[in-house]
Amino acid sequence: MKAVVLVGGFGTRLRPLTETVKKELLPLVDRPILDHVLDHLARHGVHEVILSSPYLEAAFHPFIEARQGDPTITWITEAAPLGTGGAIVNALGAVGDGPFFALNGDILTDLDLTGMLEAHREREAVVTISLHHVEDARAFGLVVTDERDRVLEFLEKPIDPIPGEVNAGTYILDPAVLGAWSAVGELSIEREIFPSVIASGGPVFGYLADAYWLDLGTPEKYLQAHFDLLDGKVHGVTYEAPWIAATAGVDPGARLGRWVAIGAEARVGPGAQVDDSVVHPGAAVGDGARVLRTIVGPGAHVGARSTVEDCVLGAGARVPDAVSLSGLRVPTDTEAAPA
Ligand code: GTP
Repeated sequence: MKAVVLVGGFGTRLRPLTETVKKELLPLVDRPILDHVLDHLARHGVHEVILSSPYLEAAFHPFIEARQGDPTITWITEAAPLGTGGAIVNALGAVGDGPFFALNGDILTDLDLTGMLEAHREREAVVTISLHHVEDARAFGLVVTDERDRVLEFLEKPIDPIPGEVNAGTYILDPAVLGAWSAVGELSIEREIFPSVIASGGPVFGYLADAYWLDLGTPEKYLQAHFDLLDGKVHGVTYEAPWIAATAGVDPGARLGRWVAIGAEARVGPGAQVDDSVVHPGAAVGDGARVLRTIVGPGAHVGARSTVEDCVLGAGARVPDAVSLSGLRVPTDTEAAPA
């Protein structure tokens, strides 16, 4: 079984972090998000992965080099951004004749891929879409299924906070169903390809699972994914909470809350307080500083006695001593200017 993993988005909602590190390569506790995604695939018998992106391979090359073993990785560079559908169509030459998984590379899930494949085969589906139940579907389009889980239609984002099933971004596809499409421009799998397959009568099924699922597209969700991993909510992975990399230096006089991850070579000074936050490799939190609900990017520095809350500090960003920042995104290699 093979999988196409999409790693070519712009990651605009996670700026400035994604200005220096591609979204799927951002650390998630101890290793890149993409490592978690590939390990999950390997646990379910996916041994060959095709990574597809309009970025040059150089952006991902160190990751591919460092990651040896299962699953093996084939890289495809898109001539231009093709969107989620175009990227999958463009990878068809590498997937072979049988059904394959396709998924977004920015999703943390413990979805039972083995069960999903069994369901796909039993129902003789041409497409199976993983579904996730949400209580408030305003941020998502809804997927409507019949009592046998066959997908009937896709609805636009609702205006009211209603519950429903949403597309969870993992698919099983029969290559033949994509044969009529060409990867010449931007094409959306969910807005163009799936509705067209349904309209032509193809058996498209939903797979509703009671799995952990979070897309890591925003700073809030990126933080939440850390908290949930540290809290043991994601099946198959366990961490100590707080998590401190072996090479990090946390002063014994610093106070770390439970929902905290401190990356390799990062420093936390005496009297500092860190809660509900992620400190990336090589970053520094000065003496007596307070870091709350914040992502401190790689090599960023929070000055002594400063408070940062609900902030995102880009790589190499600097917060001066003794200032308070709230709700700010500090660009890469820039000194924050307190309001
Ligand atoms: P935002 O700019 O913050 O919306 O992020 P994004 O550009 O990554 O978009 P989105 O979160 O909707 O993307 C979902 C998944 O599809 C992510 O894993 C992206 O990397 C991937 N993706 C989006 N567009 C493309 C594309 O043109 N080519 C490839 N290969 N992957 C894509």
